[in-house]
Formats: sequence, structure tokens, C-alpha cells
Amino acid sequence: MDPVPIWLMRQAGRYLPEYRALRQEAGDFMACCGNPEIATEITLQPIRRFAIDAAIVFSDILIIPDAMGRNLRFAEGEGPILDPLEGLSDVRKLDPECVVPGNQPLMETLARVRAELDPEIALIGFAGAPFTLAAYMIDGRGGGDFPRTRELMQQDPDLLDRLLEVLSRAVASLLIGEIDAGAQAVQLFDSWAGLLDGSSFDRWSIGPARAIVAEVHAARPGIPFIGFPRGAADRYANYRDETGIDVLQIDQGISHSTMAGLQRGGPVQGNLDPQLLLAGGEAMRAGARAILDAMAGGPHVFNLGHGVIKKTPPEHVADLVATVRSHQRGNAS
Ligand code: CP3
Repeated sequence: MDPVPIWLMRQAGRYLPEYRALRQEAGDFMACCGNPEIATEITLQPIRRFAIDAAIVFSDILIIPDAMGRNLRFAEGEGPILDPLEGLSDVRKLDPECVVPGNQPLMETLARVRAELDPEIALIGFAGAPFTLAAYMIDGRGGGDFPRTRELMQQDPDLLDRLLEVLSRAVASLLIGEIDAGAQAVQLFDSWAGLLDGSSFDRWSIGPARAIVAEVHAARPGIPFIGFPRGAADRYANYRDETGIDVLQIDQGISHSTMAGLQRGGPVQGNLDPQLLLAGGEAMRAGARAILDAMAGGPHVFNLGHGVIKKTPPEHVADLVATVRSHQRGNAS
């Protein structure tokens, strides 16, 4: 059996001392993203440390609204802040065609990383899904609550449709640009899809994803498309079936048996709880092995159920990678 590939969401970032050192030198986070030399180095930092199978380009989902003029900034300890959208007149001003020209440093980073990376290691590009981007753009900040977004869903769903259409075009063109620059797979992060239920999930998470997947697959056939509707609970199967994604990233809220069921419909990626990685030790190793055992019957990419937590000791990541690798050897012998 082929070994199970492993990479981790947010594998580059603040839990690595070498990231913190470089970031201090460069100034703020957006300055790092906008500097291909620094972003290349940060992308490669976890690859140098750990025997992982993929690099994910160092960037952020919010570069799309930023390129559209929504003035992204990061206040220390507060997370991302944007100028909140104020209705139709603001939505009309958004130009999806400025997203690739506005993100040339990202394209250059991808090209540089690809050139430096071992050919055996895959390079992953990504984008935020339209609903998740819209939630940050409407509320102007994160936090998980998104009261203005919820209000718009009730009061003016057609305006939300219109915003998501513009964002779908922007996301598809960014992903195609990333592929042309060197990405060999792409992941769509719908981090706040869990706020949607029933028909709103179909309309605002599945609908835009289906349009994006169709556009990217038609334009660049053969590039694996990973979809992550975080918090989709019992709608994961629908999401995969109706969007046409190739790989389903699953959060840690999904049980091993449910994930094994989802695997019967195609490749799955996930889903170790990032809290277990933070804790480390035997609990983490047992959790990883349980996932590997449950997924042994089909295609699986090992990952977390969400990003690496900032306080995670890097040694725990090394231990996790070794656990996944030695499990392979166990299976093969
Ligand atoms: O996975 C990787 O290693 C690639 C890099 C990556 C980042 N953000 C770097 C980053 C990826 C894939 C993302 C995705 C992202 N960004 C998502 C989707 C995944 C998820 O977490 O649900 C979301 C919602 C964002 C928006 C965003 N950007 C948030 C909420 C934050 C955290 C703010 C904070 O201070 O905690 C960011 C900033 C960010 N993006 C950092 C990194 C390494 C921290 C920046 C820093 O202070 O150095």
C-alpha cells in the first residue's frame, strides 16, 4: 500500500521560532506575504524541519478582499480587520479582475518555492471560499459571530448572492493564477461554512464552490481540488458530491467511522484535533493511529482538522510525522 501523505494546515507560522524571528525582522504579517523572498523562506521552514509531503504557500485568504480595496490590516491580538461593506454601492465597486494583478508577489513566491522544492514534495495553493470571505468583508472582522453577515442573510439574500458571485470569479481566477505560477493542488477554505444550515448551506457554500471547481477544472484539468467546508457536519457528503471537488478536508468534529464512510465516496484529508497536537505525547500518538487505522481502507491524506495552534511545541509536530511514518512501516511489513 502507498504510504499515507502528511501535511498540516498552518504548518508555517507563529509556533515556529524561525518564523517569529523572520517576522520580527520583516515587520507585519502582510509585509511578509507581500515579499516573495520572505514568503518563500517561511513556506520552506516547515519543510526543512519535518519530513512532510507538501508545502502550502505562505499567504492568507484575506488577500482577495485586500486586493479589492477593502483595506486589510491586522491589529495585534485582534485578528484581521477590513473596512466593512456598506451595501450595494460598495459591492458594485468590487472588481474580481484585479485580484491576480494585485497579487503578483504571491505568484512570484509560488514560482520560487516550486523551483527550490524537492520534486517529490507537492506545492499547494489556496483561497478562501466566497462565503467565508464575504463574512469578513461584511462584518469587517473575524470572531466567529458575524452578526452583520447573519442579518444580511435574512434581510437581503439577493445582495449576498451578488457579492458571492463576484467573489467566486475572483477566487477562480486567483486559483488559476496560482496553478500557472506553480501550485500542483489547490485548497478552498470555507472556514465559516458551519454558520450555514440547510438551504443556506446549499446556496452560499455549495453553490459558489461548484462554480469555482467547474471553472478551475475546465481551465486547468488534472489539478486536484481540495474542499474544506469546516463545520459542515452531516453535509460533508453533499458538499463533495455537489461541488465536484477531488479531495474532502474534514474537521475534527467528524467521527472516525463517519469519516471512513465519507472515504467510500473519494479521498479524504484530515482530521486530528489540533488540541491533541498541542498536548502531544501518547494521547496524540494514539489519536493519530486511530485515524490511520480507520482510514486504512482507502485514499487518505493525513492532516489536522483545523490549523496548528500557536502554542504548539514544534517537537510535537516532529513526533506526529514520525508516528504517521512508522505506522506505514507497520502496515507494509
Ligand atoms: O497553512 C499555512 O501554513 C499557509 C498559510 C495560511 C495562513 N492563513 C497564514 C496566516 C493559511 C492557509 C491561512 C488561511 C486562513 N486565514 C483562514 C482559513 C483557515 C482557518 O484558519 O480557518 C482564515 C479564516 C484566515 C484569516 C486569518 N488570517 C486569521 C483569522 C488570522 C489570525 C489572526 C491572529 O492574529 O490570530 C490570520 C493571520 C495569519 N494567517 C497568520 C498566519 C501565519 C498569523 C500572522 C502573524 O501574526 O504572524
